[in-house]
Amino acid sequence: MDAPSDGDALRKRLEALERQAELGGGAERVAKQHEAGKLTARERLDLLLDTGTFVELDKFVTHRSSDFGMAEKKIPGDGVVTGYGQVDGRQVFVFAQDFTVFGGSLSGAYAEKICKIMDLATRVGAPVVGLNDSGGARIQEGVESLAGYADIFLRNTLASGVVPQVSLILGPCAGGAVYSPAITDFIAMVKDTSYMFITGPEVIRTVTHEEVSKEDLGGALAHNQKSGVAHFAAENEQACILLTRELLGYLPSNNAEDPPVVPCDDDAFRSDPALKDVVPANPNKPYDMKEILRAVVDQRHFFEVQEHFAKNIVVGFARLNGRSVGVVANQPAFLAGVLDISASVKAARFVRFCDCFNIPLVTFVDVPGFLPGTAQEWGGIITHGAKLLYAFAEATVPKVTVITRKAYGGAYDVMASKHIRADINYAYPTAEIAVMGPEGAVNIVFRNELLKAKDADAERARLVAEYREKFANPYKAAELGYIDEVIRPEQTREKLIRALEMLKDKRQDNLPRKHGNIPL
Ligand code: HXC
Repeated sequence: MDAPSDGDALRKRLEALERQAELGGGAERVAKQHEAGKLTARERLDLLLDTGTFVELDKFVTHRSSDFGMAEKKIPGDGVVTGYGQVDGRQVFVFAQDFTVFGGSLSGAYAEKICKIMDLATRVGAPVVGLNDSGGARIQEGVESLAGYADIFLRNTLASGVVPQVSLILGPCAGGAVYSPAITDFIAMVKDTSYMFITGPEVIRTVTHEEVSKEDLGGALAHNQKSGVAHFAAENEQACILLTRELLGYLPSNNAEDPPVVPCDDDAFRSDPALKDVVPANPNKPYDMKEILRAVVDQRHFFEVQEHFAKNIVVGFARLNGRSVGVVANQPAFLAGVLDISASVKAARFVRFCDCFNIPLVTFVDVPGFLPGTAQEWGGIITHGAKLLYAFAEATVPKVTVITRKAYGGAYDVMASKHIRADINYAYPTAEIAVMGPEGAVNIVFRNELLKAKDADAERARLVAEYREKFANPYKAAELGYIDEVIRPEQTREKLIRALEMLKDKRQDNLPRKHGNIPL
């Protein structure tokens, strides 16, 4: 046999290094990762990206520390796999933290790898998807690691509103490390294997004497139901990655693009007779707004965001005749669809996301008003409710609104009313657009008459009926031009699609300024 040529030796060296990088922390730690119900960084990227599209960068980067015997412990790649690839044929930049290498902890060199792909992403205008699974700052590196985090936070902030940023939490994410995902647009967590918190159960026990498990404190359900920090809770990693692929499909690659249009074989102008009866005749009876949403959108497919948080408002993506829309809808089936602090904050952030990325807003309104109570007032409903008002008002994307039933008081103004620049406002014949509901209005306006009345109940009923006839309908608003058209519910899909088609080249700018001062 011939002796190996120089070329062979060189190739072998490269292959050996590549193999070493691909092994990460080694077979034993990979097995441990699998035993914990988790995939490796590379397995995750295989699921996320179209087959064969991943291009890895910085595969041989190693850390630079020598303290604590670290000089002898160098693994090519240093605990994070970075690069770019495609999702449904569209370019995305990715980083996947590798828990098998020093617990996925972040070194200075590791942070530089992430920053490099973030810089490329903003330069070319493509989303960044971060797969997080890390023990946080690499303890052996001290402040160099903290600096690396700050370098990432800065880029997250500067990329916000320029390219979509999505964070998947697939293991630990603790301490200040949570702030990178928090600045990104969407956080998806996996039930039972992921958690996020600023301080863990041990610190909490010492400081506040509370006993809480990691899962209860910062697991997927805690952040999807209680805190609202996360937007999705997946059953397993595969589901989490698949939903991320779907999410990206609704979004443009950057703020200078429109969202992708997909072919639509659902009849744009189909009418849906089932919609005739969804809104009950009795105004106090709840119904599920999602029934209307599903009946209207392409293929009845509504991709809900923050499904488990503030269920009194529903937000998510859908398509109308193949075009992405962001849907915001009061949910009368939960707390009568009232606006409270959580609902306002949830919807405001979603509205701002859509506006950043040229996604038209379709708003369905059935709102009895803002939630009364000391908890809400002292919790700052004034400031938080103003966020939603501000978000809708500043948004310059096409805005189409459908009032299905109640649109009372300040909440009428807030929910993408004509007055804050909605382009087209529809109402169903069941709409009630007024300062408040008939019962409340009569009790205030006719208080003296009711006190004097012989039969107060009968008089109240008569006045309520009169008020309802005069004000609890869409026609006063339609007379004033605040409602462009009173539509039959079964025509909703056609009306929305025609309006969005008319608005598709809408261009509107706000006055030049450094940035507004949304009431945070
Ligand atoms: C260096 C780390 C590490 C870290 C884990 N490892 N975290 N190495 N720096 N931060 C190493 C472990 O030594 C171990 O190495 C391997 O990763 C796997 O860790 P295990 O503890 O065996 O795994 P597990 O039992 O699953 O526990 C995971 C864990 C735990 C809960 C994340 O490792 C942990 O508590 N780590 C420390 C977390 C932490 O305090 N980080 C700093 C937070 S402050 P071997 O060689 O044994 O396999 C922070 C600030 C960010 O992050 C600041 C931003 C501004």
